[in-house]
Parts: sequence; C-alpha cells; structure tokens
Amino acid sequence: MIGVFDSGYGGLSVLADLQQAMPDVDFVYLGDNARAPYGTRSFDTVYRFTLEAVRKLFDMGCPLVVLACNTASAKALRSIQQRDLPHLAPDRRVLGVIRPTAEAVGALSRTGVVGVLGTPGTVASGSYDIEITKLHPDFRVVAEAAPMWVPIVEQGFAASDGADWFVREATQRLLARDSRIDTIILGCTHYPLLYNKIREAVPQHISVVCQGPIVAASLLDYLHRHPEMDARLSRGGSTRYFTTSDDASGFARQAGIFLGRDISAETLRLS
Ligand code: DGL
Repeated sequence: MIGVFDSGYGGLSVLADLQQAMPDVDFVYLGDNARAPYGTRSFDTVYRFTLEAVRKLFDMGCPLVVLACNTASAKALRSIQQRDLPHLAPDRRVLGVIRPTAEAVGALSRTGVVGVLGTPGTVASGSYDIEITKLHPDFRVVAEAAPMWVPIVEQGFAASDGADWFVREATQRLLARDSRIDTIILGCTHYPLLYNKIREAVPQHISVVCQGPIVAASLLDYLHRHPEMDARLSRGGSTRYFTTSDDASGFARQAGIFLGRDISAETLRLS
C-alpha cells in the first residue's frame, strides 16, 4: 500500500489524483484531523506529529509514504529522510510535495514571477523560494499565508458564502505584491478544496495550480525509476481511510463530499 498523509482533509486533493493515475494500487489515507491545523505549529511539533504518522503507516505495511501536506514537507520531510529513515526503516521511502511542484513550475510560468499561497508555517519556512530558485535562478517567488483557509475547510465551510471573503482577502494580498505574477501555486493541499472560489477571485490570465496532478505524475516517474519499490506495492485498487478524529463517520461524510463518492473511515490513535 502507498500511505498518504495530511494533517486533515487536504491530502484528499492529492489522493484523488494518485488513485486516478494508479487505479490498481492500494492506498491508505491518514488525516490527523484531531490535531489540525499544522500550519501554525512549530517545526518540532510538526516533525513529531509527522513522524508518528509515518511510523503508523509503516506499521500498517506501507513501504512508501507520501506526505500530501506542504507544511509537513517543509518542516519534517528532510529530518525524517536523513535522520530517521536510515535506522527506522532503511528500505522504506517518504516523499513530499514541494520538490515535485517546484520542478513543474518552470514549464508553467512565462513571466517567471510565481505566487505561492500556503500555511503560515510553509511560507515562513521559505521552502518554495529555496526549491524554485534552486532550479530556476531567474524566477521570483512571492509567498503569502492564507491562515484561515485550512480552518474553513476543516470545519466544513468550504462551500459557504463566508469563505468568499477570506479567499478574496488572501488572493488580493498576494497579487498586490507583484503585478507580474502569472501563476499561483496552491501550496497547501487543503486549498484545492476551495478551488472554485479561488478561480473566481483571480483574474483569468493567471493560472491557479493544484498539486494533485503534479504529485501523481512525479510519483509515477519515481516508481518507473524504482521498479523494486513498484514491485512491493499491493494491487487491489482499494483505499482505506483513517482519521485521528473521534468522529470517523463525520470525517467519512465530509471526505465523501470532497471525493464525490461515499467512503467509510475508521478512527486511529497516533499518540
Ligand atoms: N494541508 C496541509 C498543507 O499542505 C496543512 C494544513 C494545516 O494543517 O495547516 O500545508
């Protein structure tokens, strides 16, 4: 199974594209809804929570875990890859979402001025600026946090009229930073769940980029380059859904709305 982890509902926006790209592969989704949002938490806390989730997914039999969470990718991925994996599980892999997005962005922007919307943690980490300018030194990255968007999604208000105000506020704040922005990366996996509202708030000539298709293409490429990992994946086309929330049926209901089909979910404790 491939483990897919996020602080809550956001990773579903990546999972949907992974399922579509790899319909025969088995997935396990884990949302740490009980402790979301991660975006306002410290490096140490995000690292500790993410490591707990990764260990749990390893225990469940996943040889490969995707951190479908920018905040965890920014704050925990490197430590887990370099410090923990070598002694914890040298034959398993943990991949993030920021690097593949940075790789894809070169083909998307013409002006070379890229806007990023993310959690306060992701923006403060500077990860997008670092990764994008490493690959494209002539690019300018302008990042703004949209701190209310994750709580709006987590609390089930993604489709509400009230969400429009917060979407307009953050997109206008970003676009005011540089009139040359022609591409906006939704650098938080929760944000595609607000996609229609974001698209409406942003002028048509600006591309609004969701990470799901990018991460799916990157994972397919990874498995192609690592046939030994590909061969370890079980192939029954199933997905099991876990949440740390006590209310697993509430999670299933909300996740079902985002995924557009009924699912069932179980509560799982991380600590
Ligand atoms: N969905 C996550 C991300 O991509 C984190 C949201 C949060 O818990 O703050 O950053």
